[in-house]
Amino acid sequence: MKKAIHQRLLAWYDIHGRTLPFRGTKDPYRIWVSEIMLQQTRTETAGGYFLRFTQRFPDVFALADAEEQDVLKMWEGLGYYSRARNLHKAAKKVAYEWNGVFPADYEQLLSLPGVGEYTAAAVASIAFDLPYPAMDGNLTRVLSRVHGVRKDVGIPSVKRQLLALAQKDMPSKRCGDFNQALMDLGASLCCPGTPDCDKCPLKSLCDACREGDADLLPVKAIQKPPLEIEMAVLIITCKNKILLSQRKEALLKNLWVPPLAEDVSTETEVKNTLGKMGLIPLSITPLEQAKHVFSHRVWHMQLWHVETEEAKEKAGLWFTYEQMQSLPIPTAVKAARAAAEHILAPEVNFLPLQEHRSLIRDTARVYCESWQHAHRDHATPEMKKEYTPLFMEMILRSHLDSEKAVYALQANGQIAGVLVLDKKQNELCTLYIHPHSQGKGIGTKAVQFAIGQLDRHRDMKVTALEKNPHATHLYQKSGFTLPSARTLLNKEYDLWEQTLIRPGEKE
Ligand code: ADE
Repeated sequence: MKKAIHQRLLAWYDIHGRTLPFRGTKDPYRIWVSEIMLQQTRTETAGGYFLRFTQRFPDVFALADAEEQDVLKMWEGLGYYSRARNLHKAAKKVAYEWNGVFPADYEQLLSLPGVGEYTAAAVASIAFDLPYPAMDGNLTRVLSRVHGVRKDVGIPSVKRQLLALAQKDMPSKRCGDFNQALMDLGASLCCPGTPDCDKCPLKSLCDACREGDADLLPVKAIQKPPLEIEMAVLIITCKNKILLSQRKEALLKNLWVPPLAEDVSTETEVKNTLGKMGLIPLSITPLEQAKHVFSHRVWHMQLWHVETEEAKEKAGLWFTYEQMQSLPIPTAVKAARAAAEHILAPEVNFLPLQEHRSLIRDTARVYCESWQHAHRDHATPEMKKEYTPLFMEMILRSHLDSEKAVYALQANGQIAGVLVLDKKQNELCTLYIHPHSQGKGIGTKAVQFAIGQLDRHRDMKVTALEKNPHATHLYQKSGFTLPSARTLLNKEYDLWEQTLIRPGEKE
């Protein structure tokens, strides 16, 4: 019987096994990362995360040396964030206590944070070909059907019985393939509900197929219903910032969320909650409702927008739209995040000055104030004096005369900046955002707009002051690469300019 099961399975796997991004490697680091991801995530979703994660953290040292916030950010949207925190802790252990070497030893693997019997068995078998069955939902289903185990698979003695049966079925070689063949069989033919027994390589050996009760297996006790929790989600803004705090509770620990108030449902209760936080609201507006289902609880959320006058720090930290983008924020508060982004990030219009010549004066004033702010620490007093609104108006007119595309950036109806493009040279020549309008994602939208107006198939050019890392980061986010050359602009101020290139995209 033993021989027949693994032989049939492996022959089937050689033809029908799935090609997945985390397969075809024996690197225990990559196998471990993928198995942690796959614990509670579908294979299709995990694939993309796996590729991005291992590109960012290509080995166990890169992961060990990362900031936990960056690890959580790469995990954003995958849920069950304790997996990411444990992955990070375990990486430190492997890197600094084991010199970066994953042991080919089940018990030692089991000692790593976040590594349970399933993961230890998966890594031991796939990376090191050790004979440990990786008892996940798929193996439990397939083996309970094949061996006709008709008892509750949640009971420890039944679990042990299934594990013993799997150990007997395990071949002496290709142990990892054996586990993964059972996973693939469970994910394709031997699926929950009604399986496709006619195509199954184990059909003639399967007890449940013979008895005709495969759709009733595995037997599982009815789960307790999840706890239903009503809560208010407070999107508290002060000017262009939002109040967020880092969770201390075990659920979603260390992720950033807006203030969440359980059992708060009326406006008066919201007001009382704000009072306890030491915040005085200017306005309180109910927004939409949202729901998030965790494995053991359901959050029923009512979103509220609260405007306050004073950005007090007591209840959390205040972030601009741009700063919020780099924080790990869980999917559970996805609706709140979208609402916050809508509130913080204004709608931006790009008004071509060629068609709206009457705008030149207003745009020149904004350009002048933005320039003065950007160069406040590194422009000569003569330059500061020279760069008046009138002077900026002259510059804008000369750009128009030389057939450059000049745009006023309009955010929520107000002029917020200026953008100049040279389509012939395929260059973003000028981008200034007024200091009052910074941190709202307008710069990112302007760069995206510029890329759309220029020719993406040719190299694109932009020049930025070296002393303005914010600008460099903004362009890098949209595919411009760090320069190899720089030009000295002003010796006295040690002012250098650098040219970034966005390589032409292939057709
Ligand atoms: N689910 C968990 N681990 C897996 C693997 N290695 N292959 C396919 N599905 C999986």
